[in-house]
Amino acid sequence: MTTNMVKVLKISKVGGEKVRKKLIEMDALDNSYVLGKTGNFLLFPLKKSRGIVKEFGGKIVDRNLRKVSKPVTGLKEALGKILPSSLAGKFPRSFDQIGDIAVLEIPRGLGKYEKVIARTLGRINPRINVVAKRAEKYSGKYRIRPITVLDGENRSETIHREAGVRLKVDLNTVYFSPRLGKERLRISKLVGKKEKVLVMFSGIAPYGIVIAKKNPGVEVWNVEWNPHAVELAEENIKLNKLGKRVHSLSGDVRKVIPKLKKKFDRIVMVLPFDNAEFLVDALMVSKKGTIIHMYSILNESEVDKFKVKLEKRHSLKVFDVVKAGAYGPKMWRYCFEMQST
Ligand SMILES: C[S@@+](CC[C@H](N)C(=O)[O-])C[C@H]1O[C@@H](n2cnc3c(N)ncnc32)[C@H](O)[C@@H]1O
Repeated sequence: MTTNMVKVLKISKVGGEKVRKKLIEMDALDNSYVLGKTGNFLLFPLKKSRGIVKEFGGKIVDRNLRKVSKPVTGLKEALGKILPSSLAGKFPRSFDQIGDIAVLEIPRGLGKYEKVIARTLGRINPRINVVAKRAEKYSGKYRIRPITVLDGENRSETIHREAGVRLKVDLNTVYFSPRLGKERLRISKLVGKKEKVLVMFSGIAPYGIVIAKKNPGVEVWNVEWNPHAVELAEENIKLNKLGKRVHSLSGDVRKVIPKLKKKFDRIVMVLPFDNAEFLVDALMVSKKGTIIHMYSILNESEVDKFKVKLEKRHSLKVFDVVKAGAYGPKMWRYCFEMQST
C-alpha cells in the first residue's frame, strides 16, 4: 500500500457529496488518491488548491493519503512489476485460452523466465488452472502441436466452451484451435434450415457441433482419421445431445467419401494447405449448387491465381473469398466460398 503527503480540502461531512461533484467539475479532485475521513470531516485530495477555500469554505491542509491501487489486468502489466524492465519489449501480450488451459508462446530470450511468466498468468486469471507452452509448429499427419505444462495441474485435457457448445479437447493428441471459433459461428449462420452438411478433416467435430446446435433441422457428417480425435468427437456429440443429427465417420476421407451414398448441400474442408487436392473427393458427393467452404493458407499475392486455378480445374464457381484470420506476414487463412456447377 502506497501513501503520500498531499494537499487536501478538509471540510465538514455535511454536503460532502455536493463538494465532491463540484470539485470534479472544476477538475480539482485528484482521484489517484483515496478520499480521507477524520471525525466529522472529509479530506478531498486536490490537484490544485487555488480558489478552493473561497469556493467551498473549510481548510487546505497536508495529509497522508493512500494511492488508489489499480487492479492488474494484463499479463504485460503484471510482468512489468516482476521482470527486468530491459525485457519489457519481449513480454508476451496474449495467449490462447482453451477451456481452463492457457497456452502461451514464450518469446525467444525469455526461456529462463517461462515458469515466472506462467505463474503470473495463472495468478491474474482465476479461470485458468493450467498454463502451458506449445511446440513451435503443428506437425505430423494429425496436425498436433503438443503442450508442456509450466504451471498448475499437469494435464492436457479440458472442456472448451464456444457458441453455446461444449467441446472436450486433449491438446496432446488432437488438433484444436480456439481462433477458428468465429469462423465456425460465421459458417453456422449461413446454413439453411434442412441442409445435409459434410465436414471433411473434422478433428473433434467443432464445426459440425456448432452448425448442428445453431440449426435444429440440419444433419451433419464428420470425417476424420485421427482415432483420438474421432473418440473425442463422439464424446462431444453426446455431450451436446446431438447424437441423432451429428455423425462421426472414422478414416481417410479418400476412402470414406466414396462409400457415402448421398449428396450434400454444403461441405466444409478444414485443412490448412492441401485442401484443393481433396476437391475431387468433395465434388464426388456434391450436386449442382452444393456450397463448399474450403480453407487455404496463402500469401495475399497468391489468392487471385489460386482462384483461377480452382475454377479451371474443377466444375465450380468461386463466389467469395473471406479472410478468416491472420497467419503470418501477408499470410492469411482464406475461406474460398464456392458453388459446384
Ligand atoms: C487443421 S485440422 C482441423 C480439425 C477440425 N476441423 C477443427 O477445426 O478443429 C485437420 C484435421 O484433418 C485430419 N486429416 C488430415 N488428413 C486427413 C485425411 N486424409 N482423412 C481424414 N482426416 C484427415 C487431421 O487428423 C486433423 O485432425
